[in-house]
Amino acid sequence: MVDLNQQRIDAWNSDNLPIYEPGLDEVVKACRGKNLFFSTDCEAAIRAAQCIFVSVNTPTKKTGLGKGKAADLTYWESAARNIAAWSTSDKIIVEKSTVPVRTAEAIEKVLLRNCPAPGVHFDILSNPEFLAEGTAIDDLTTPDRVLIGGKIENDRGTAACAALVDVYANWVPRERILTANLWSAELSKLTANAMLAQRISSINAISALCECTGADVSQVSFAIGKDSRIGPKFLNASVGFGGSCFQKDILNLAYICECHGLQEVADYWYSVVGMNDYQKTRFVRRVVSAMFNTIRNKKIAMLGFAFKKDTGDTRETPAIDVAAGMIEDGAKIALYDPQVPEEQVRMDMGEEAMKSITCYKNPTDALKDAHAVTIMTEWDEFKTYDWKEIYEVMHKPAFVFDGRNILDHAHLSEIGFIVYALGKPIDPFLKSAEGA
Ligand code: UGA
Repeated sequence: MVDLNQQRIDAWNSDNLPIYEPGLDEVVKACRGKNLFFSTDCEAAIRAAQCIFVSVNTPTKKTGLGKGKAADLTYWESAARNIAAWSTSDKIIVEKSTVPVRTAEAIEKVLLRNCPAPGVHFDILSNPEFLAEGTAIDDLTTPDRVLIGGKIENDRGTAACAALVDVYANWVPRERILTANLWSAELSKLTANAMLAQRISSINAISALCECTGADVSQVSFAIGKDSRIGPKFLNASVGFGGSCFQKDILNLAYICECHGLQEVADYWYSVVGMNDYQKTRFVRRVVSAMFNTIRNKKIAMLGFAFKKDTGDTRETPAIDVAAGMIEDGAKIALYDPQVPEEQVRMDMGEEAMKSITCYKNPTDALKDAHAVTIMTEWDEFKTYDWKEIYEVMHKPAFVFDGRNILDHAHLSEIGFIVYALGKPIDPFLKSAEGA
């Protein structure tokens, strides 16, 4: 494992790994120093390797052509230039980063034109990453499938694919290792994320309709998920999907469609992101209208900030937009997340917003004297809290806005809370509120 960033490599070599992921510590500690090494010596690693996995990030472009939509391949290109400059023997180059379709073509040009050593050959493979944060180690050890794309139309490409298949075959059953042409593999990655995100936006759209009709979105999800053509996964209504991948990849996919003159196709995918924004806005509107149309100077406890449980990652977390929306209405936010440090919240929200946010190291202080609780992340520990005790220390009426539908709503109502849950029949108290 090589990275240019010394601080990060030092962290990987320390007892405090730079990311939280269940099971990761055990894997790293078992292998580090044996067959897993972390270093900043990129040149030596590139020279020695037969196969190089390029896993640099490909964020959304912030400026220039395609800004706000296209993938920024700066890091990819500079990795390719380094590989070309330092390689003295043939290499298999594996695209692990999520990239636009036909990136391999561009990378091949960079590699070929920049390698000073004579006769060096590069075989490029696309091997998209499908593991999800929070379950990454399980996804790695028992994947649904591994996809390897290469130039299977020629012998060299087929041999490169076979070499990578052999690596995975050490622990993945052969029938789960798929091979495809390069462009199919690249496009499959964007499509998988776009389709997963689309399922969430679809069920979130229905959650809004459920609230108007008295239907219960969990019952709808359960019923439709029983259809084996639909399946039960990724049908949990939420305050919105987050994470570093879904929004970025849909925007990238839509931009590629636009570049090919397929505006209708692009608009179709943009609407998945649009529905996600709507869900976040709708949640804030519910909070404000329920609390008598004003949350100015009210203490609102926010439980969870990470984009999902079992990770400290906050990239594109819906909590950012919800917090910003509530601050705009004058709320004072009392934030608690078991894994997200205050500095991270500061980076995500900015100094100005932090004047209205206090981060707590324990939930008790965040909840004391609060007018409302908003659940932003589905951390298991939130379910284990003594909600009766919490009710006692909050202002009345005490509200719970469950943005993840994880709490026992009937029990909360019995205690005395006014409960709003996504896509659930609306509490009569909230029904009388204006503007919802
Ligand atoms: C996602 C994909 O699931 C992975 O297959 C892919 O490899 C990864 O992106 C990537 O491209 O690297 P990840 O972003 O880690 O993985 O997390 P997900 O489990 O997909 O969750 C994304 C968001 O959707 C979270 O905010 C989650 O809370 C939300 N979600 C998920 C829902 O709102 N409802 C659901 O039913 C499921």
